[in-house]
Amino acid sequence: MTKITQSVDLDRRGHVAVLTVNNPPVNALSSHVRQGLHEGLIQAGSDAAVQAVVIACAGRTFIAGADITEFGKPPTEPSLNAVLDLIENCPKPVVAAIHGTALGGGLEVTLACHYRVGVKGARFGLPEVKLGLLPGAGGTQRLPRVVGAQKALQMIVSGDPIGADEALKVGLIDEIVDGDLTAAGVAFAEKVLAEKRPLKKIRDLTDKIAPAKGKPEIFAEFRKSVARQTRGFRAPENCIKAVEAAVELPFDQGIKRERELFTELMNSPESKAQRYFFFAEREAAKIPDVPNNTPVVDIKKAAVIGAGTMGGGIAMNFANAGIPVTVVEMAQEALDRGLGVVRKNYEATAARGRLTPADVEKRMGLIQGTTDWKAIADADIVIEAVFEEMPIKKEVFAKLDAIAKPDAVLATNTSTLDVDEIASATKRPESVIGTHFFSPANVMRLLENVRGAKSSKSTVATAMAVGRRIGKVPVLVGVCYGFVGNRMLHQRGLQAEKLILEGAPPHQVDKVLTDFGFPMGPFAMSDLAGLDVGWRIRKGRGVTSAVADRICELGRFGQKTGAGYFRYEKGERAPIPDPVVEQIIADVAKEQGIARRQIGVEEIQQRLLYPMVNEGAKILEEKIAIRASDIDVIWVYGYGWPIYRGGPMFWADSIGLKAVRDQMLAYKKQSGDDFWTPAPLLDRLAEAGKGFLG
Ligand SMILES: NC(=O)c1ccc[n+]([C@@H]2O[C@H](COP(=O)([O-])OP(=O)(O)OC[C@H]3O[C@@H](n4cnc5c(N)ncnc54)[C@H](O)[C@@H]3O)[C@@H](O)[C@H]2O)c1
Repeated sequence: MTKITQSVDLDRRGHVAVLTVNNPPVNALSSHVRQGLHEGLIQAGSDAAVQAVVIACAGRTFIAGADITEFGKPPTEPSLNAVLDLIENCPKPVVAAIHGTALGGGLEVTLACHYRVGVKGARFGLPEVKLGLLPGAGGTQRLPRVVGAQKALQMIVSGDPIGADEALKVGLIDEIVDGDLTAAGVAFAEKVLAEKRPLKKIRDLTDKIAPAKGKPEIFAEFRKSVARQTRGFRAPENCIKAVEAAVELPFDQGIKRERELFTELMNSPESKAQRYFFFAEREAAKIPDVPNNTPVVDIKKAAVIGAGTMGGGIAMNFANAGIPVTVVEMAQEALDRGLGVVRKNYEATAARGRLTPADVEKRMGLIQGTTDWKAIADADIVIEAVFEEMPIKKEVFAKLDAIAKPDAVLATNTSTLDVDEIASATKRPESVIGTHFFSPANVMRLLENVRGAKSSKSTVATAMAVGRRIGKVPVLVGVCYGFVGNRMLHQRGLQAEKLILEGAPPHQVDKVLTDFGFPMGPFAMSDLAGLDVGWRIRKGRGVTSAVADRICELGRFGQKTGAGYFRYEKGERAPIPDPVVEQIIADVAKEQGIARRQIGVEEIQQRLLYPMVNEGAKILEEKIAIRASDIDVIWVYGYGWPIYRGGPMFWADSIGLKAVRDQMLAYKKQSGDDFWTPAPLLDRLAEAGKGFLG
């Protein structure tokens, strides 16, 4: 065996050369891997004793993509394209032997090979679109030539991988093999040699793309079918154009077109934001004073207190991850109702074909309902999701303290209450933490973990680990009213209320945000959540919100009553502007002496979003969030901030903090409202010409 580079070995098995990539953990295409493949192929190509080449990988996967640590750095030789040319033009058959995931550049390597074999569990995909890019090493040109234009469009535009069975069916691989993969790859190469099969260069194949040639309607149809999911993103359109080029242009011209489309994406603000976000998400997992090796509680069993809207959803997360969970309610009736909703949710998913009836039963089987508190005694984590009232929370935590085992994590799902005060109801505040789920709790990816003043490192590490285990994106925040997400949302809401009184109707305000990329605007969101919740809270706290209160007084609580800020046709969710509400707004404006005027899109956008940025600055200065990028993760995963705009802090940086600060000062002057006073951190960074992210 010859070591070509630190990560590529060349071995000989009879007259078949085996190039093995060994670059843990995922065999990313680092420069030494590209170099090793390049050099190894030259050696194998010029060795008269070698008749065929197998490319395989050590460890848990085939090449799973580019080396993300090389992103943004100057390119190093050889380029991936140079390696692929060498593979494709090798005069001896080259066979890729695939296990694990062949993703991105990894799949492109296999597409330059003449043959591909894979194990049953292997997966194949081109996920570049998820970073706002397209597969730029021939992937958009070669994939359609093996699987056809339609399948290629679907794979490249979704970025989702396919399994080995499907890959075989669509022609992406030649054979599914089992046993020792390298041996199977060598055996396949020998078969190719024995049968004197031709070198199958994908670049020369035309039969799979022929049916789409001269048929722009195929692409038009596809564009229409993905329009909703891809709204606002730039990469999907370039992916489609690249596949069109594969169908219509000779291979080499297609490759040129792919390069142009790739470069355009690489320089686009959308991809910059998406690549930034990719790292932001990984960064959020790191807690500076809680190292990776901090001991965590092994969660074998969970408990949830309360089977309401949130409790049911939280329990589903555990069942989905295969963790048994006990749900405790006050009364059997509430329990039956709550678990009934859970079952209905699972059955709806099964009806859409995304779960089998057996899966539904298995998951329901993992959820145990009870009214007996003693059932939580063996739970490793207890998550409380009862009514949002401090005396009730404290009573529940005193009970948990008495019953839960000593090392259990005691978590609260409160959205507004002080986690430290809740923790004070126990004799073990170090075990208490906030786990703030978002509604619907079984769907939304964000989990704000709220670190109390006394939460131990192990409690923090456990909450982060369990969040990931149940498929969430946990972000650690500190204790304050509304934590990070809702605290910033509140600022946006205050301006939304002002804007409607000053003359921008609710549908105009909402449209500015949906055009920005949010799935819905503040008023449609309030209608979805239910206006009665806020109304009850305001009444309890003795505060008013003139327009919202009057809407509620008419029994308009949002979508559930068919009307709120908007009206809704029966069974429909599309908000329709309602003159009744517009009259209420005009009346309130008149009573409050507010002059109404037409308000432009730019002003609406700035007035809704700059206050969020400003609050974000305060949150950072108070160390409620660890880093600016954590705030962005919260907004993308919890509130639908468009990922192609990075998140509020990244977005503010891209505008320039000086421009943001100066505009805030202009609004302050215009309105005389201290609301617009820039946060000290925003002011300092703006003066220094810096951004939140450096
Ligand atoms: N609904 C949301 O969008 C949302 C989002 C994030 C956080 N939260 C928080 O989650 C918690 C629960 O909210 P929800 O919307 O699920 O409320 P909910 O009213 O739907 O459910 C609360 C449940 O807790 C039960 N309960 C009350 N006291 C109990 C006790 N002492 N023992 C056992 N069960 C008890 C009630 O019977 C009810 O079924 C609140 O703290 C809320 O602030 C809610």
